[in-house]
Amino acid sequence: MLFKILAVAAAITGAFAQRPSNTSICDYYTTALLKNNTAANQEKLITFIVNTAVIGNYTTPNIGISVPGILTAGTYNGTRVNLLPYFNGALASTNRGGVGRSVNFLDGGGAAPLVQNKPANSTSSNQYILLTHLYEYFGALFGCSGVGTADYPVYNGLGSQYQVHKFMGLSHAQVGYFIEQVALSAASFGVGQSDLMIVGNALNNLFNYRCAPPTVVIPIQGAQFQSICLDNTCPISRNSTCFSYDSTTKPAPANSTNMFTPNATTTKTGSKTSSLATATVSPPPKASHGGAVSVGMSFAVVAGGLAALFL
Ligand code: HEM
Ligand SMILES: *[C@@H]1O[C@H](CO)[C@@H](O)[C@H](O)[C@H]1NC(C)=O
Ligand SMILES: *[C@@H]1O[C@H](CO)[C@@H](O)[C@H](O)[C@H]1NC(C)=O
Ligand SMILES: *[C@@H]1O[C@H](CO)[C@@H](O)[C@H](O)[C@H]1NC(C)=O
Ligand SMILES: *[C@@H]1O[C@H](CO)[C@@H](O)[C@H](O)[C@H]1NC(C)=O
Ligand SMILES: *[C@@H]1O[C@H](CO)[C@@H](O)[C@H](O)[C@H]1NC(C)=O
Ligand SMILES: *[C@@H]1O[C@H](CO)[C@@H](O)[C@H](O)[C@H]1NC(C)=O
Ligand SMILES: *[C@@H]1O[C@H](CO)[C@@H](O)[C@H](O)[C@H]1NC(C)=O
Ligand SMILES: *[C@@H]1O[C@H](CO)[C@@H](O)[C@H](O)[C@H]1NC(C)=O
Repeated sequence: MLFKILAVAAAITGAFAQRPSNTSICDYYTTALLKNNTAANQEKLITFIVNTAVIGNYTTPNIGISVPGILTAGTYNGTRVNLLPYFNGALASTNRGGVGRSVNFLDGGGAAPLVQNKPANSTSSNQYILLTHLYEYFGALFGCSGVGTADYPVYNGLGSQYQVHKFMGLSHAQVGYFIEQVALSAASFGVGQSDLMIVGNALNNLFNYRCAPPTVVIPIQGAQFQSICLDNTCPISRNSTCFSYDSTTKPAPANSTNMFTPNATTTKTGSKTSSLATATVSPPPKASHGGAVSVGMSFAVVAGGLAALFL
């Protein structure tokens, strides 16, 4: 859980100075880790974070935080979680034209290209589309200033994450586990405590409540239904609009002909490691404290709403 991660991160902290409030999380850590704050480097940073969240930690440097990865089964708050069947075609859980279908999202080489900091072997794979969409989406969530420029395309997947995840019928533990892997991944690159808090809280508030009203995540897509947590273990959103959401169903196992053996998509790559571009982490830029709040747009909005919950 988030607090556990924060405690671990706090114990290891010291990698970077405090982020100045006029620099987004993405831009700040791009500069810290990759030096030049270009759109291409921002996308590279988000690629490291997403790939690590998906398959577990594989890069050097890693400040000593182990990340199991979204594709690895684990436990969240005492509940067993295994998200792999939603990604490898074992469940008819993907929304294709309003019907739950079995789709293999590990058809672009699985973990092998990810440890090379790539989305997939083939641009025509489901894996390629999913991973590149995640780079674009998380780039917006982390406030990357280069999103929307030639080197870092803006997210052009479906706007409603409710529609995307509708037939997965996910629980609070499942969505919590996913968010925990994203936070752990960011922590493993040295993202500081207060920034992890912002990321974790934003993801929880946007996606981990049931019946959320239309909310803007990608500005050009406008307000959309975003609840990813759907079953009755999910806490209910403020300003909930449950009548806008269909009743939740759990996905059926796919027919064996559609099924891909999980072992073919092994996520454990043993000693394989891959270095961040320059292998060394540059000294943190000198931080200036205070000033106007202007983190990534979505986070600014959510963090504002969140402050109320925490105080
Ligand atoms: C904070 C939570 C999450 C966020 C922000 C998120 C975000 C996204 C985004 C942006 C896409 C791409 C949609 C598109 O290409 O149109 C996607 C697809 C997908 N997500 Fe999530 N997701 C989250 C949680 C989860 C969880 C918990 C699962 C559990 C299995 C999951 C499974 C998938 C799958 C299988 C797809 C591919 C669906 C398709 O192409 O139709 N996601 N997600
Ligand atoms: C942030 O503020 C500092 C000092 O107030 C300034 O030197 C710096 O250029 C600003 N950075 C950005 C990205 O606006
Ligand atoms: C940073 O980017 C500028 C302009 O693209 C380039 O001239 C410079 O060499 C880059 N610096 C590093 C350290 O990569
Ligand atoms: C993952 O991180 C942990 C903690 O730093 C480390 O012990 C382990 O070797 C890493 N795994 C890989 C595959 O890099
Ligand atoms: C963890 O589980 C307990 C007991 O079911 C519940 O009260 C609590 O809200 C859960 N916490 C989180 C963060 O999911
Ligand atoms: C994908 O690329 C990796 C690394 O180049 C390779 O080991 C693997 O066999 C490839 N997989 C497919 C399905 O092409
Ligand atoms: C709930 O709706 C009210 C009135 O429209 C609005 O002021 C408030 O910000 C909303 N709260 C959330 C968490 O969306
Ligand atoms: C499995 O196949 C049968 C017969 O083709 C079909 O009726 C059924 O809907 C399929 N189930 C799933 C979950 O795809
Ligand atoms: C995966 O499982 C299949 C069927 O059980 C088996 O034939 C194959 O050798 C396994 N592959 C690996 C890499 O373990």
